[in-house]
Amino acid sequence: MIQGKLKKSVGWAALQYIQPGSIVGVGTGSTTSCFIEALGSIRQKIEGVVSSSEASSEKVKSLGIPLFDLNDIGIVDVYVDSADEINRKMQMIKGGGAALTREKIIAAVAREFICIADASKLVDMLGTFPLPVEVIPMARAWVARELVRLGGTPVYRQGVVTDNGNIILDVHNLAILDAVFLEEKINNIPGCVTVGLFACRTADMALIGSEQGIKIMR
Ligand code: A5P
Repeated sequence: MIQGKLKKSVGWAALQYIQPGSIVGVGTGSTTSCFIEALGSIRQKIEGVVSSSEASSEKVKSLGIPLFDLNDIGIVDVYVDSADEINRKMQMIKGGGAALTREKIIAAVAREFICIADASKLVDMLGTFPLPVEVIPMARAWVARELVRLGGTPVYRQGVVTDNGNIILDVHNLAILDAVFLEEKINNIPGCVTVGLFACRTADMALIGSEQGIKIMR
């Protein structure tokens, strides 16, 4: 499948932006999984990795890459992760893999955020992909009502418990005209842990893979 090849090509292309001795943050998902594989090939050259999910941690450990607790390190040199959607301002929707909270934490700590994605993720306006929101379980109905007040249609992601023990609401039908405003607005709902809008902290660079090659956006 072509999309699989594109994910692999951007995952491996990101290696050229990893400096020797770096601490590298890794995201979650099938594209990032390709990057982690690539990182395994230079594991002796980097200091180690901080990971955004149990799934990515397992992969990191299986490749013999040193894994650090974020609390034990000062700075993350570079964070590499994919997105469910990215626009030309480098704002993203993330959380399709339910790892949005830890992803947002590592993105905040990182000096540089590189988004790797196949071209199907590049959009003019965010919001076709339902916006994931991680929510404290007891606040599910309340947060859902507040999201409806904002014009969205929240859908409970059945059977999913995040690595932090919370649930996910996927919000459909949101017109995301001002992503920074909406990110702050949803983050302020009591019971919302994290909204999967990455607009306040955007990516610094994106590698977008298509059949024509890899396009670099800054
Ligand atoms: C994980 O929670 C997400 O933010 C992922 O970055 C996103 O779902 C992309 O996943 P794929 O690389 O599998 O498309």
